[in-house]
Amino acid sequence: MTTTSDIPEPLIAALRDARHVCVVTGAGVSAESGVPTFREAQVGLWAKYRAEDLATPEAFMADPELIWRWYRWRRDVANEVEPNPGHYALARLAGIVPRLTLVTQNVDNLHQRAGSRNVIEFHGNIFVDRCFADGTEQTADDSLDVPVCPDCGGPLRPGVVWFGEAIPEDALNASWAAAIDCDVFLSVGTSSLVYPAAGLADVAQQNGAVVAEVNPNPTALATGFDFAIGGTSGVVLPELVDFVSL
Ligand code: APR
Repeated sequence: MTTTSDIPEPLIAALRDARHVCVVTGAGVSAESGVPTFREAQVGLWAKYRAEDLATPEAFMADPELIWRWYRWRRDVANEVEPNPGHYALARLAGIVPRLTLVTQNVDNLHQRAGSRNVIEFHGNIFVDRCFADGTEQTADDSLDVPVCPDCGGPLRPGVVWFGEAIPEDALNASWAAAIDCDVFLSVGTSSLVYPAAGLADVAQQNGAVVAEVNPNPTALATGFDFAIGGTSGVVLPELVDFVSL
């Protein structure tokens, strides 16, 4: 078979034969929808804001109103955009391979809106509200600058994982198990700089999976992967899934 793109044929063959595919996505997969990434020069959120001012429990304790303003703005951005062809391609891939585990570091719900089911939310979900004191899920009264917990009266917080916080145990365990079990592992649209998410590719590789990256800017980790496809997920993933389904 000949391919018309830079998608390696051995990767297509591995996906066709795969029993279990594990995909880890990062902010890049939502870039073509118009959601800003974090670490890209000029356009990344961390080029404009300091992570320690906005994405740590200490920052929240210092100025919860500021944190809520920032997260409400990010919720608005996520609500106003649409999933892109990369999100839809991953939802389609789940219907083609026997088993697919989708782990996302994104909190924007775009995979879910594109039809992906059982998405593992590694860094939480921006649309969930939690009690800052005990982490229980609550519903915020959005008329308040800093919504309060109906149970304890303390502040609510957005349900994302901040720097210095643990990954939700269920998400961590399920992701690790999928990385160990899968035959093909795809790392899509992530700088692979934030651990433990960035460690999943290594776990997959140590356990014999074929590992590939999709990213217009190949990452440092990708030098050790089997394949690095230098393109955007909105273009590469639909093409890749088309080939797998042939
Ligand atoms: N398609 C695929 N990849 C893309 C695209 C695109 N259209 N556009 C940009 N990228 C790539 C960039 O080259 C970069 O490698 O997406 C990556 C985005 O990297 P980061 O901004 O670091 O995002 P991510 O890896 O998801 O960050 C991990 O850091 O701040 C935290 O909690 C936040 O979940 C996030 C975590």
